[in-house]
Amino acid sequence: MLTQRRKDAKFSLEVPIESFVSENIWDAPHGFDKLGFDKLGFDKLSHRAALQFSQGFFALTKLCALASLRQNRNLGVTVTRRQTLSGKAYLIGAGPGRPDLITVRGLNLLRQADVVLYDWLVAPQLVAQARPNAIQVFVGKAHDRHKLEQDTITDLLVEYVRAGHHVARLKGGDPSVFGHVAEEAQALAAAGLEFEIVPGVSSALAAPAYAGIPVTSRGYSTAFAVVTGHEAPGKADSNTEWNALAHIPTLIVLMGLHRVDLVCTTLIAAGRAASTPAAVISRATTREQRVVRATLADLPAALHAANLPTPAILIIGEVVGLGAALEWFVPSLVEEGFEAFEQIEQREL
Ligand SMILES: C[S@@+](CC[C@H](N)C(=O)[O-])C[C@H]1O[C@@H](n2cnc3c(N)ncnc32)[C@H](O)[C@@H]1O
Repeated sequence: MLTQRRKDAKFSLEVPIESFVSENIWDAPHGFDKLGFDKLGFDKLSHRAALQFSQGFFALTKLCALASLRQNRNLGVTVTRRQTLSGKAYLIGAGPGRPDLITVRGLNLLRQADVVLYDWLVAPQLVAQARPNAIQVFVGKAHDRHKLEQDTITDLLVEYVRAGHHVARLKGGDPSVFGHVAEEAQALAAAGLEFEIVPGVSSALAAPAYAGIPVTSRGYSTAFAVVTGHEAPGKADSNTEWNALAHIPTLIVLMGLHRVDLVCTTLIAAGRAASTPAAVISRATTREQRVVRATLADLPAALHAANLPTPAILIIGEVVGLGAALEWFVPSLVEEGFEAFEQIEQREL
């Protein structure tokens, strides 16, 4: 590697010669972790300040200089230039809760990322897989508990990628299932930036699987639909055809825990049998998973008694009737350290 010593600096720092002509790109330099960022208060910087710091080689050398001066010794830091000059966003599905349900590709990309922007439902154990010096930003987003508005999150993503970073944008479940992937991908495309969508295991399929409910099954169901409960019956400007959905063999409702009464009564009024088996699965795939089963008519009362926490999905159809015999998952046997939702609840907003 070509290196040169900066003559104008008051400290000794070896950098590859190409770095002087590089753009707003830097990678974690070898020895960077020896600099003691905690002493610099770097960990206390806001993510915007961190972004600015990371923009440009001279910001980096300034940090190195400061660290060298503070520690009063030559740290012999070598700054290496990134192999690629452009940033890229990876819109990664983190899976439904249990951390090891992320895909191998998703995990590999997360481990290499410079920046991690993660949502509310992403397991802390996954965030912990990021490189120690990766910038980590919790952007929130849960029912009634938004940390940042979607536009702000999208802007942040675009800014980090434009600055040359590889950004892992971690979303619960699959990014394309009610995950705002379109807004983020459109903004990246409009800015001429590269992105990749890394599919994930959606709770729409994982929750039924972990409750022993197949979403299709010969003789019971040949089709399923996934719908958001935010578009609850009666909502003004709703595009959701609840009358048509009443006749889909297996209906899976996300974000509907607070509107189960309305959904059940609407489906019955639209012609679905009141005796149709139905279930709500809360905190699926984790040690806190709970399942409540009832008929479509009785589900609201059964839920009221059970007082289940979010996140939860509702599933309606004859396939639910198969479930009791197929229940295979024993939440209490989930290994220590996999308590995703217990830890998520402690996340500060
Ligand atoms: C904003 S949507 C995102 C869905 C996500 N992209 C996916 O594919 O699972 C959030 C909803 O997903 C459902 N959900 C996510 N994780 C869940 C889990 N572990 N158990 C039950 N429902 C879950 C809930 O209905 C929750 O309100």
